[in-house]
Amino acid sequence: MNKLLAAKNIQKSYKSGGKTIHILRGVNIELRKGESQAIIGASGAGKSTFLHLLGALDRPDEGTIILDGSDYQKMSEPELASLRNRRIGFIYQFHHLLPEFSALENVMIPGIIQGGAQIKSPSDLISYIWRIFRPTIKANLFADLRARAENLLAELGLAERTTHRPAKLSGGEQQRVALARALINNPDIVLADEPTGNLDLSTGDKVLEVILQNTVGKGKSLILVTHNPDLAARLGGIHLLKNGILQRQ
Ligand SMILES: Nc1ncnc2c1ncn2[C@@H]1O[C@H](COP(=O)(O)OP(=O)(O)O)[C@@H](O)[C@H]1O
Ligand SMILES: [Mg+2]
Repeated sequence: MNKLLAAKNIQKSYKSGGKTIHILRGVNIELRKGESQAIIGASGAGKSTFLHLLGALDRPDEGTIILDGSDYQKMSEPELASLRNRRIGFIYQFHHLLPEFSALENVMIPGIIQGGAQIKSPSDLISYIWRIFRPTIKANLFADLRARAENLLAELGLAERTTHRPAKLSGGEQQRVALARALINNPDIVLADEPTGNLDLSTGDKVLEVILQNTVGKGKSLILVTHNPDLAARLGGIHLLKNGILQRQ
């Protein structure tokens, strides 16, 4: 089996008001290259918590996560940051696009970070972008990144929307920009946390189609959290997160 991602015995709890709440009680999942899996479950079941752990955005209390041979537990924060930037594309329910930047700039940002910018805070990012948007020594790299971002947006049907800020885009368009941003560094895996949860059914359906075409359709892997069983049924497998345990349906 051409395994890309394996999570074993993942446990995570939160402390709240002196009490410990066990959210994940030993969760396992395996994913092959080019495979898609859906995670469903009630609100508060721990789906986002689990996806954040898979995305190396947080660390589990127990358990191991290995992405293509890289064991998160054995990696430093800078190594994890690089892994997140290069190998993982994350899409959120509320897209988290930066409101001050155009669609094109939002898509370019992970590429700018990969270009070696040290970004420790939003203000670093903003000052870096203003610097880089002036004529710069790295003009070729920048032009290449810009062309890739433009191509991606065009492929996602947004060629006419590159200069729009997020507030001027519809919900479906915002989610397609977020997909382009997740894809700009050509990740191996896309992790999508209810990316259609904020959209009407027909728009959500179209956005899922575009996500599928641009992930599994191009040999990448996808884990998608969704509330919608009809959408989940279009992926390669369905897992239900319940009482801290993930069960294949
Ligand atoms: N940082 C945190 N501190 C304390 N509790 C949290 C934190 N993050 C999530 N939780 C709690 O963990 C549970 C699972 O949350 P979440 O993973 O967001 O669920 P889901 O995505 O399935 O709706 C919820 O009860 C939530 O309130
Ligand atoms: Mg959630």
